[in-house]
Amino acid sequence: EKAGFDHFMLKEIYEQPKAYRDTMGARLNDTGNRVVLPELTMTEEDIRSIRNVHIVACGTAYHAGLVGKSVIEKLARIPVETDVASEYRYRAPIITKDTLVIVVSQSGETADTLAALREAQRCGARVLAITNVVGSSVAREANDVITTWAGPEIAVASTKAYTSQLIAFYLLGLYMAQVLGTVEDAVVSETITAMQALPEQVEAILEQAEVLKGIAEAVSTHDNLFFIGRGLDYAVAVEGSLKLKEISYIHSEAYAAGELKHGTLALIEEGIPVIALATQEELFEKTVSNIKEVKARGAHVIGVVNDGDVELAKSVDSTFAIPKTLALLTPALAVVPLQLLSYYASLARGNDVDKPRNLAKSVTVE
Ligand code: F6R
Repeated sequence: EKAGFDHFMLKEIYEQPKAYRDTMGARLNDTGNRVVLPELTMTEEDIRSIRNVHIVACGTAYHAGLVGKSVIEKLARIPVETDVASEYRYRAPIITKDTLVIVVSQSGETADTLAALREAQRCGARVLAITNVVGSSVAREANDVITTWAGPEIAVASTKAYTSQLIAFYLLGLYMAQVLGTVEDAVVSETITAMQALPEQVEAILEQAEVLKGIAEAVSTHDNLFFIGRGLDYAVAVEGSLKLKEISYIHSEAYAAGELKHGTLALIEEGIPVIALATQEELFEKTVSNIKEVKARGAHVIGVVNDGDVELAKSVDSTFAIPKTLALLTPALAVVPLQLLSYYASLARGNDVDKPRNLAKSVTVE
């Protein structure tokens, strides 16, 4: 059932190109220049009445929501807040009938996420669920569902569900933008074309798994490390850090690169690994100066960069290049090397990759 792979996690990492294709599948029109979401009961009128969006989820699904926030704000120009579900209900969120609440859940059974959904509906909001399990509690109770067609995810550490959630957010963001007229048609079709290239680009990353294995083995001897990045790279850093902690048990922290000098730099000492994501062109120079700050304090920096960014290689200890795509879409590629890094670090430490200690695949208690 592991189809020749040593672990479900590795199998699921390799299933991502298919998950991307299946999740996009019938949601693009025949000419490939518009998004269609026939499953939505939400009308165009409903979309035009949305004043704000709340994205609510737990763990990795929450991290997908961080990317979702940028995607919806950039494409549809609607203000978005993100909350972890276990906090949302207790902070008296301002929910009105013009709020669209998006819950994200692979299993569709996470207790806190389900409770947030119910609270949102109680306040009169429409709830849209992004979930991987058809017929799950979240799918049944939400007003609308966008199913991620990632297929069953067995490993406790979420991989293909997360990336399929990103695809769902890209589709939703584009769809809302089409309805609201917030981006030009040319931008919609250019984004779709770039999305269609993602599966092959993931395959190209997977072909370099051995490189990441080497990096992971070196990293696995450390007890602490950092992930840094700005903008969407920060959202990916947070997910990379969770993945690593979850299965390798190495302590790590993700920091918005510009925040380092507000405290965290004190923790950078000789030899500490820092995984620096620098895929966002607009923020590149700023991230490079943050990389120099940690280098100057002795950090061992592993850069995740866009293919062709040879400049950065000079200021870091090693680099891993991902294929070039639109800035907005880079999380769907940049997270893949981090998943492999976590997998190989866990393996190097002799851990039970698919069943990390103290964790359950589906958290049905609050
Ligand atoms: C991490 C992980 C968890 C889940 C979280 C939410 O790899 O798998 O953080 O993402 O428990 O689960 P779902 O998406 O099923 O609601």
